[in-house]
Amino acid sequence: MVAMKGLHTRTQVPFTQPLRSAGRARQHCCVVPRAAVASPTKESRFTSVEQAPPDPILGVSEAFKADKSDLKLNLGVGAYRTEELKPYVLDVVKKAEKALLDKGENKEYLPIEGLASFRSATAELLLGPTHPAIKEKRIATLQSLSGTGSLRLGASFIARFLPGTAVYLSNPTWGNHKNILSDSGVEWKNYRYFDPETVGLDFDGMMEDIKSAPDNSIIMLHGCAHNPTGIDPTEEQWAKIADLCIEKNHLPFFDVAYQGFASGSLDEDAYAPRYFLERGLEIIAAQSYSKNLGLYGERVGALNFVLSDSNSAQRVMSQAKRLARALYSNPPVHGARIAAEVVGQPDLFDEWREEMQGMAGRIKTVRQKLYDELVKLNGDKDWSFITNQIGMFSFTGLSPAQVENMTKKHHVYMTKDGRISMAGLNNAKTEYLAKAIDDSFRNH
Ligand SMILES: Cc1ncc(COP(=O)(O)O)c(C=O)c1O
Repeated sequence: MVAMKGLHTRTQVPFTQPLRSAGRARQHCCVVPRAAVASPTKESRFTSVEQAPPDPILGVSEAFKADKSDLKLNLGVGAYRTEELKPYVLDVVKKAEKALLDKGENKEYLPIEGLASFRSATAELLLGPTHPAIKEKRIATLQSLSGTGSLRLGASFIARFLPGTAVYLSNPTWGNHKNILSDSGVEWKNYRYFDPETVGLDFDGMMEDIKSAPDNSIIMLHGCAHNPTGIDPTEEQWAKIADLCIEKNHLPFFDVAYQGFASGSLDEDAYAPRYFLERGLEIIAAQSYSKNLGLYGERVGALNFVLSDSNSAQRVMSQAKRLARALYSNPPVHGARIAAEVVGQPDLFDEWREEMQGMAGRIKTVRQKLYDELVKLNGDKDWSFITNQIGMFSFTGLSPAQVENMTKKHHVYMTKDGRISMAGLNNAKTEYLAKAIDDSFRNH
């Protein structure tokens, strides 16, 4: 037993029992001796638990909040902001919520696998409404806790049913991929992805690493708008990656966190998973509605297994439900209803697409403006990577020391790997940001 200082041995009162209830016990039955009253100053059994480091992404927001400067700019977290740098609730979300309130939604538990209307809507959004896998019931879709929870459920499934299989992650990747896999007991390895020389895709390195992975490995691929680099393979490159997955019998696991948000088109951004299916591969795909529908805190997402036959899909579904039951029992209801309403109502769906294009368009505009400002400041450096990258982020190539300068001197908050969220930038701040970037590259 760890230190129980302050508790005398005669007592049976657990040391966590509040003083008040110990007092009550004394009053009513007089069985607890005075000395047994737990002292609030005693040492916790958790004194040996070490302080965890701040989360590399969410920790940036905490540091940002603590900064008192008027100049401060938070480009750390991937959350869309308006031109006024305020959080944005989509108009379609407000309309869908009103419709739900008018209908009088209840708060009953959902089934383990989630809301039926959301599950069919999300599968159709991923594959396209007329996809044969849907008609042939070869898809098992579970509503889960946004992108992260869906990935986690997928990782738990891998740990249980494909034990010993490593998941290959791009280097770099979204930082939480590693945590999710490690905490699920799944081994992960890297494949090369980013080439610092070209600030582009190291396609040859990627192919070599995927080729040398043992047959039947799992390859995590970002569906679109790769995080953190903003660099996606071209269609020709996707074709070669699919060839390799077929040759090696690898299982692609798509992380689809930005569908519609990268290009403004839901179909264009679903090109890769749909193409892999067309090539006859089975896939796993995690979806998130945090960015494209702005439902960050509602935790809306799904895990899909698109398989070769309906029997397998049915069995996989039954086992994934079993895992979900033990992890969180059933997913949250409100956000899923919103998403189902938006996707299921043609007028809301059209409005959503327009709003998504608006968000994607605003990001493209600030990207271009940042590029123009940087060229003005230093025309000798090649800044084209800024406009070549797509989606929410730009991978600037700033070193950790340069990032420190960005934060300490210029109050620009960003992740240590040099990633900035373009969605947190507005037109008014692009000149300021460009000056900070230029200064950091020149002087550090
Ligand atoms: C690549 C990637 N996957 C998954 C997620 C999961 O996000 P959420 O759990 O908020 O849906 C994110 C969020 O930033 C992401 O960038």
